[in-house]
Amino acid sequence: MNMKDTGMNKAELIETAKKYMNEQFPRFDFIAEKAKGMYIYDEEGHAYLDFLGGIAVNAAGHCNERVSKYVKQQVDEMVHSSNYCFTIPQIMLAKLICETIGMEKIQFQNCGAEANEAAIKLARKYGVDNYGPERYKIVTALNSFHGRTLGTLAATGQPDSAIQKGFAPFTPGFKYAEFNNLEAFKEAATDDVIAIMVEPVQGEGGVFPADKEFLEGLRKLCDEKNMLLIFDEVQTGWGRTGELMAYMTYGVKPDIVTMAKAMGGGLPIGAMCTSEKLMNTFGPGAHGTTFGGNPVACAAAYAQIEELLEKKLSENAKEVGAYFREKALTLPHVKEVRGLGLITGIEFDQNIANELKYTCAEKKYLLMTAVRPAVVRLVPPLIASKEDCDKAIEIMRETILEIAK
Ligand SMILES: Cc1ncc(COP(=O)(O)O)c(C=O)c1O
Repeated sequence: MNMKDTGMNKAELIETAKKYMNEQFPRFDFIAEKAKGMYIYDEEGHAYLDFLGGIAVNAAGHCNERVSKYVKQQVDEMVHSSNYCFTIPQIMLAKLICETIGMEKIQFQNCGAEANEAAIKLARKYGVDNYGPERYKIVTALNSFHGRTLGTLAATGQPDSAIQKGFAPFTPGFKYAEFNNLEAFKEAATDDVIAIMVEPVQGEGGVFPADKEFLEGLRKLCDEKNMLLIFDEVQTGWGRTGELMAYMTYGVKPDIVTMAKAMGGGLPIGAMCTSEKLMNTFGPGAHGTTFGGNPVACAAAYAQIEELLEKKLSENAKEVGAYFREKALTLPHVKEVRGLGLITGIEFDQNIANELKYTCAEKKYLLMTAVRPAVVRLVPPLIASKEDCDKAIEIMRETILEIAK
């Protein structure tokens, strides 16, 4: 659908949006009508260099040809059939994912929060089935983000943030410990705990990569205490950190991994992967979804993953991400630059992240913020080049000098 089809101009469309839609955050002042590769195009055809990447989604680039082709084919053949039927895209995607990342079973979901809900439910049932009704607690990290459903909201370790304020009482069964502090996790891992769940790189929290020793220590702790290690790879999964999954970057394999975002080529899909033995904890009827594993979403994800593999986009993420961080260190007012592959956080010496985001958008460059007001988060498509980085850095440099005090 484009503007001509609506009979409205830009101002009328935005007014209509404001009248009818609940807004999550202030939008940029343009209508995104088209997108290709590293760029989004507005209603007048202006190109915006996209380092927001649909919030870490469009990993193979906007409107990737392979993804578009598979989606169009699937839409013409069958859009939805229900999970009572076997469907070819779902079967092929399940095989591709499990064989590529070394997992045995997959449970499809619709998004990241749902994938995490599935992981939380699986861990709880595993604990209760094997150790009794008292063993259901999960330790997550302070400053984490696991989603906005009631379960994942409780798992999210940001007690005073807008994400959680006003939604209490929270789902019981979660405890928080300081990220990258193994001793704190050891202390929290009491006998009623069945799992530890962490992001290998905290994204929304401000881009904090885990230390290798921390994740190795969590693996050992889980093995010693018969707990499950869950990695939330909703943001880090599928090439972003320089390997297909961040657990490969770290060389630490979790018992359960969750994914969404970059997996689907822009269509809503999520999943949880684990071993066959563990997945069997969910007997028939224990867990399900109407849309999870929808054939169109699965066709898109299949194409996306094929593209990531064939074009070795995780390797590009590693090389270009390192280049970007080196350049980012030359920006004015920078306090710290953090990241892994193509997820980068730039922390400034003042709270300019929000203004930087909207002012850069006016200059046709898109970036993300995080929950910390001094941090911007860059999660571009994994096709980003060094030239794209140079351009992004120069727009940020110019804008920082304008807005910083
Ligand atoms: C690490 C992590 N987990 C879970 C989620 C929630 O994913 P979704 O918005 O697809 O529900 C996000 C979203 O930003 C995320 O970054």
